[in-house]
Amino acid sequence: MLLAIHHIGIAVKNLDEATRTYVSALDAQVEGTHDLPDRGVRITFLALGNSKLELMESIEKDGPIAKFIESYGEGIHHICLEIDDINKQIESLIAKGVRLKDKDVRQGLIGKIALIHPEAMNGVLIELVEKEDGDILEKA
Ligand code: CO
Repeated sequence: MLLAIHHIGIAVKNLDEATRTYVSALDAQVEGTHDLPDRGVRITFLALGNSKLELMESIEKDGPIAKFIESYGEGIHHICLEIDDINKQIESLIAKGVRLKDKDVRQGLIGKIALIHPEAMNGVLIELVEKEDGDILEKA
């Protein structure tokens, strides 16, 4: 079941500059910055009410975010939807023939995550998350 928009991911060239821009323009509150070497990104979460913005900078020359910016420029990269049972949701997506970007559910910062391919969702990369108690953002 869909519960909420958890966050919107934004690809940026320079994380520190982008963070300053968002904080200064929107009075957004920084929740934390994290290096995710396995995904080739450094991210900063900004709190905005019940939702968040995830600013993402590539830490690899040819990483997925670097390639995204090369193709489309900076901008919205994905929308993350919070759901209540990711395994059930994945089973249901597979049964419906919806193309997933990752076949396996993986452990993210917030909980278990999976990605639906943008070609299956009218050009939007959808990240699904089932939040867990160990959510480091909630603890921060
Ligand atoms: Co995200």
